[in-house]
Amino acid sequence: MGTKGRGIVRMDVGKLIELLNKALADEWLAYYQYWVGAKVVKGPMKEAAITEFTEHAADELRHADMIANRVVQLGGTPLTDPRSWEKTANCAYLNPEDPYVKAVLEQGVEGERCAIEVYSGLLEKTQDKDPLTYNMVLQILQDEVEHEEDFQALLEDIEDMMKRR
Ligand SMILES: [Fe+2]
Ligand SMILES: [Fe+2]
Repeated sequence: MGTKGRGIVRMDVGKLIELLNKALADEWLAYYQYWVGAKVVKGPMKEAAITEFTEHAADELRHADMIANRVVQLGGTPLTDPRSWEKTANCAYLNPEDPYVKAVLEQGVEGERCAIEVYSGLLEKTQDKDPLTYNMVLQILQDEVEHEEDFQALLEDIEDMMKRR
């Protein structure tokens, strides 16, 4: 981004880049959690779960791309070392060690809840200060809210199906 583009940001740009890099680490961890979740998941309605995890993984990767582009626009450097992801991230990587569909979906819900909190916070911090980042964060937050809903709805369907058996 040019000097003027950066000049309209009415907050500490260095601090903003740091916050965006933290969110970038979250996105990569979420991407991998869902990507590998789709590979290992087992149990009832696993096909539906695979579809959700695959779609969500693609969304998280797209979010990572949006955030990295904004970091570059702001004159920063996106995290270059995957080894920094875990210590930089806001949200924990939830390892799908237990591949049972309910366990993996519950981890997904937990991850999305953390993401919703992170992006709500970023919205507040950028409101009236950086309209471009604000707009990007709002788009991402809309996806994360949908993701939580998707995982929760699938969990409810599975629980319902098991009760009726
Ligand atoms: Fe995301
Ligand atoms: Fe998500």
